[in-house]
Amino acid sequence: MNNKKYTVTAALPYANGPLHLGHVAGVYLPADIFVRFLRMKGEDVAFVCASDEHGAAITLRAKKEGTSPQAIVDKYHTINKKAFEDFQIGFDIYSRTSNAIHHQTASDYFKKLNDKGSFIKKTTEQYYDPEFNQFLADRYITGTCPKCQNEGAYGDQCEKCGSALSPTELINPVSTLSGKTPVLKETSHWFLPMDQHETWLREWIQNGTLNGEQQHDPKTWRNQVVGQCMSWIDGGLQPRAMTRDLDWGVKVPVEGADGKVLYVWLDAPIGYISATKEWAETAGKNWEDYWTGDAELIHFIGKDNIVFHAIIFPILLKEHGDYVLPTNVPAYEFLNLEGDKFSTSRNWAVWLHEFIANHPDKIDELKYVLTSIAPESKDAEFTWKEFKDRVNNELADILGNFMNRAVVLTHKYYDGIVPPLSEYGKKEYAGYIEAIAEIPGNIERNIRAYKLRQAQADVMDLARLGNKFFAETEPWKLFKTEPEKVKDILNITLQIAANISILLRPFLPKKAEKIGQILNFNTNNALTWDQAGGIALLQSGHQINKSEILVQKIDDSLVEDEVARLEASKSARAEQNGPPQKDTVNFDDFVKMDIRVGEILEAEKVPKADKLLKLTVDTGIDKRTVVSGIAEHYQPEDVIGKKVSILMNLAPRKIRGVESHGMILMAEDGEGKLCFVSPEKPFNAGGEIR
Ligand code: MF3
Ligand code: ZN
Repeated sequence: MNNKKYTVTAALPYANGPLHLGHVAGVYLPADIFVRFLRMKGEDVAFVCASDEHGAAITLRAKKEGTSPQAIVDKYHTINKKAFEDFQIGFDIYSRTSNAIHHQTASDYFKKLNDKGSFIKKTTEQYYDPEFNQFLADRYITGTCPKCQNEGAYGDQCEKCGSALSPTELINPVSTLSGKTPVLKETSHWFLPMDQHETWLREWIQNGTLNGEQQHDPKTWRNQVVGQCMSWIDGGLQPRAMTRDLDWGVKVPVEGADGKVLYVWLDAPIGYISATKEWAETAGKNWEDYWTGDAELIHFIGKDNIVFHAIIFPILLKEHGDYVLPTNVPAYEFLNLEGDKFSTSRNWAVWLHEFIANHPDKIDELKYVLTSIAPESKDAEFTWKEFKDRVNNELADILGNFMNRAVVLTHKYYDGIVPPLSEYGKKEYAGYIEAIAEIPGNIERNIRAYKLRQAQADVMDLARLGNKFFAETEPWKLFKTEPEKVKDILNITLQIAANISILLRPFLPKKAEKIGQILNFNTNNALTWDQAGGIALLQSGHQINKSEILVQKIDDSLVEDEVARLEASKSARAEQNGPPQKDTVNFDDFVKMDIRVGEILEAEKVPKADKLLKLTVDTGIDKRTVVSGIAEHYQPEDVIGKKVSILMNLAPRKIRGVESHGMILMAEDGEGKLCFVSPEKPFNAGGEIR
């Protein structure tokens, strides 16, 4: 018996936003196809993933949404977990790095490496934002990438060119907290001396050998992955801090590390191990079987994750000593959307959970299109028009049409009973039979080489072959004159259909099952990959079911609606930079407002009202009381002496029992921050504002 185990991982998505089609096309769907294939080959696979819930990606998002990191990860973990389930990404487990088992695993891992001396503790100067009392690592700092001049590079990485950076390399660094240039300040951290690992890494990545043993076949690694790794190694690896001054994450489990957590890129990949443990406990498996011995570890990732999975995590695995290193790191390029990059902040995206909610019957249609355009070797683009075209012209016209003809003719001529294949037929159509036999091997080779686009196209080629067979043999013309031949033709046609129902399963599990139902065949999916390729899948005399529409064609209106939805969300986003202009007012209306410069003389909190300050304002003509909703933005002592704009002739109102005479004008930014509208020069109270 084959005892070998596979661990297939898909990059842990940050729980800081919903998943979009770019994530799906370039990580989760290919990983799922690969795993479904392995399972059909009878392999023992652990397919693990989880939400990445630590790091600056999370804390910064919480800040932006004005909430806590915990609230952010709870929200997006729930959304994303459900989206994966609905989309039938068949993880054995979708865990989260906030789980206790992960904190324990990551903490133990760090301790073990620290005890072994794998890290170097160093005190260095790091960027610091004095206004926020915080060190600025990773996404807390941006600047210009020294390698590609991209102005939006982060402190740990440039997402444009993929380089791994450290904050001190950035040109014109800026704090993302205050927007100001940071200062340097000393702090101590645990560094991974990556420079000491260059020799074996080079050998391992280029030749696939580790400690003199062949560990993987380097020819199976994508050129981009090897290329990126070698260029980093050739550029000289630098020691990299494995801890951070932050309060959100896995606490550094050694003395003298108060206020420090593990670097998220140390903690997150260990999440693959924690998730395997968690799964094994409930599945009655031994998790170590999947991480030791001859287990194969395969990481599906996006190209911006290459350095972390092909260099940093392998160093950590090797230092630990007990675990296998990845045998492949299939990395994907990026998917664009309708001529532009996917962007969460600009809301330019097709969100997976929204697609599912709007088109619950088009899950496999989306899978089909995303695999057809998967960014395997270069960036690719999703457009709704292409979605429609591929579904209609390929899935419906080639696959759906073939299936329908095969099934309808079988009912028309033989009441839905599979006719026999004669010895004559086997000879007459030997070329087709051979072609059928070859297809599963081709698909398998392509899947094992991570060429899933081609592999799916190979399955479609089988449907094309079926259509060609029909067109060449024209059974509908022969039925009266050569009925024996028609039996042969329809038998072979139905065998093609049965083969498709097996071979399509990794790619489009729902459609494959539907085909199985129509053929009344393999409905429990018991047939394995190796049973495909033959022409005796359906016995003569077997009763098949009636034809059903396999693929519903897509209307132009869907394309129009979706493109309009995208444009609308883009303009909705633009509104956050200011609401739309109000209705026109005439000059007479405007001059009715009496606005003047006032000076705040006194300020005190209004009891039991968190937002309100009671102000005494010198308006030049009187000293009056104004109640203003600024207590969340200003302390009373901060506003005394300020020159502000006051709307004098607003009808007096009682607010929380205090009579307010007028209104202080405030400027509000898109995020709800308020500040005074003040004269640019130090005017005296009483000046008119027109
Ligand atoms: N959260 C990271 C990202 O979205 C990926 C983490 S993968 C892991 O880019 F290996 F660290 F888990
Ligand atoms: Zn760059």
